[in-house]
Amino acid sequence: MPDITFIHFDGTEQGLEAPEGVSVMQAATGAGVAGIVAECGGSAMCATCHVIVDEAWADQLPPPLANELEMLECTATERQPTSRLSCQIKLTAAMQGLVVRIPERQQ
Ligand code: FES
Repeated sequence: MPDITFIHFDGTEQGLEAPEGVSVMQAATGAGVAGIVAECGGSAMCATCHVIVDEAWADQLPPPLANELEMLECTATERQPTSRLSCQIKLTAAMQGLVVRIPERQQ
């Protein structure tokens, strides 16, 4: 049960627990975290699940695949060096304590 902390654009933090194997996007939408739209349902086709991974975690996640990198060019808020599509980050036990920021807008 990894803990994840979402930091909203206004700085408020929202923590939740999520089971291993689900994506960060699924954890967020399942818990009603505002700002994760996920229009395409997790197919790496919309970029409305954009998150900015905390720098301390950026190197600890599996790197993005080509389709994710391509879609990260289409984010509503400018892409950052640690930007990811949250639907493409599958939670593992090693991600206990993951911190991601939600960008200003998703659409
Ligand atoms: Fe559409 Fe992640 S939910 S790209």
